[in-house]
Amino acid sequence: MPRVLLTGANGFVGKILTQRLRDAGYHVTALSSSEPQPGHAADQQWVCDIRDADGIRQAVAQVRPSHVIHLAAVSHVPTSFQDPLGTWQTNVMGSMNLLEALRLEAPEAFVLFSSSSEVYGAAFKSGEEVDEYTRCQPLNPYAASKVAAESAFNEYFRQGLKGVIARPFNHIGAQQSPNFVTASFARQIALIEAGQQEPVLKVGNLEAKRDFLDVQDVCSAYLELLKLADSTQEYPRCMNIASGRSLKIREVLDTLLSLSQASIQVAQDPERLRPSDIPVAIGNSTALTRSTGWQPQIPLQQTLRELLDYWRQQTV
Ligand code: GDD
Repeated sequence: MPRVLLTGANGFVGKILTQRLRDAGYHVTALSSSEPQPGHAADQQWVCDIRDADGIRQAVAQVRPSHVIHLAAVSHVPTSFQDPLGTWQTNVMGSMNLLEALRLEAPEAFVLFSSSSEVYGAAFKSGEEVDEYTRCQPLNPYAASKVAAESAFNEYFRQGLKGVIARPFNHIGAQQSPNFVTASFARQIALIEAGQQEPVLKVGNLEAKRDFLDVQDVCSAYLELLKLADSTQEYPRCMNIASGRSLKIREVLDTLLSLSQASIQVAQDPERLRPSDIPVAIGNSTALTRSTGWQPQIPLQQTLRELLDYWRQQTV
């Protein structure tokens, strides 16, 4: 049975991906810096901070994975402005710790690194779809740290490590932290409906446009990318995961509001505005589709409805 080591396994994507990997027949070791959560689907749990080089080496030596998916990261853009050092220690040196552990203990493993569409940064200002040939011009510490981590992965790939880099665009769904936009809006609507928040929904920049995907579609892409480990064909080292369609945050908010009977005012909260914000993000995922056949399946309307229902269940 193929053995996957999944870092960041207690995070939003990690928990969902664990179940999807098991359903697909992988043995999953969930590596996380926090104690295992009750009901986590993994076959095996391993508690170790990605910044702990010795601990990560020990984990890789014991698990001897055939596949690795590296999700562990500081992933919230505003947090990366508040704590750039912590962001780089986790996202860059954490990646280096994993890469060194693989070089020394599991050099045959296939590794999938989850980078981010944020790496394109200022290149998005063109308003055009970006593909993997678009030059990376990061606009925040999080994005810069992902470019640096990609560079580390590319160096190990050059030395013979097998694997790919994925650049997912915004992915959303139940269980995501309300630090992120759709979860924040859905949670506030649920709180207002339950009478636990005054009927004023706080928002940041509603003019930004994002390319949203359901988290399950992103997990499907990761599963397809893992299959490249056994491919005899050439495939690109780096691939976008995108829907190819960009929506204004205001439109997403309107859809969520239309799913509620409550009368809700919208108010801008200056705290939610950012020093720099990408105005339009839209991605081309032709390379991924060509290499794996992946296509997004879940309509955004369905994702938003399920998200709001999730937050309604959380607030009763
Ligand atoms: N978080 C948040 N909260 N964002 C808001 C709000 C709000 O109340 N109101 C408007 N926004 C705007 C932000 O300014 C941004 O333009 C957009 O909504 C999306 O914000 P986030 O959900 O925080 O995501 P992100 O685009 O900054 O980054 C996410 O996507 C990346 C992939 O493209 C994160 O998930 C990153 O980790 C990921 O790499």
